[in-house]
Amino acid sequence: MMSVVRSSVLTLLIAILLGGAARAGDEAKCTIATKPENEVGKACASGGRPAAKKDMKEMVKKAKANGQKFTCEGCHKDLDTYALTKSAREDFKKLVAAQTKG
Ligand code: HEC
Repeated sequence: MMSVVRSSVLTLLIAILLGGAARAGDEAKCTIATKPENEVGKACASGGRPAAKKDMKEMVKKAKANGQKFTCEGCHKDLDTYALTKSAREDFKKLVAAQTKG
C-alpha cells in the first residue's frame, strides 16, 4: 500500500532530522564513533556511516569557510575502514573549534 510506504519514508526522514534511533544496515554501522558524544557520533547513531560521512563533509566545508583547511586523509588512514591517524582525535577538536568563527 502506498500510504504505508509514504508514512515509513516520512518516519525515516523525521528520525534522521531529529537524530533519532533509525538504524541503517549493519554494514553501514559506525565502528569508531560509537558514542553519541559529538556531532559525528550522533550522526552515526541516527544514520550510520553514510550520515557520519555527510556530517564530516559538512564540518570540513564549514571549517574551510572559516579559513581552516582539513582533509579526510589528514585524520583517516583510509576511507574504507576510516581508521584514525595518531593525531585525529587532537585534530578533531580543532575541526570542532573551526565550526565557529573566531
Ligand atoms: C580533523 C580530523 C578529521 C577530519 C578532517 C575528518 N574526520 Fe572523520 N572522524 C574523525 C574522528 C576523530 C572520528 C571519530 C569520532 C568519534 O569517535 O566520535 C571520525 C569519524 C568518521 C566516520 C565514522 C566512522 C566510524 O565507523 O565510526 C566517518 C564515516 C568519517 N569520519 C568520514 C570522514 C570524511 C568523509 C571526511 C572528509 C570529508 C572526514 N571524516 C574528515 C576525524 C576527522
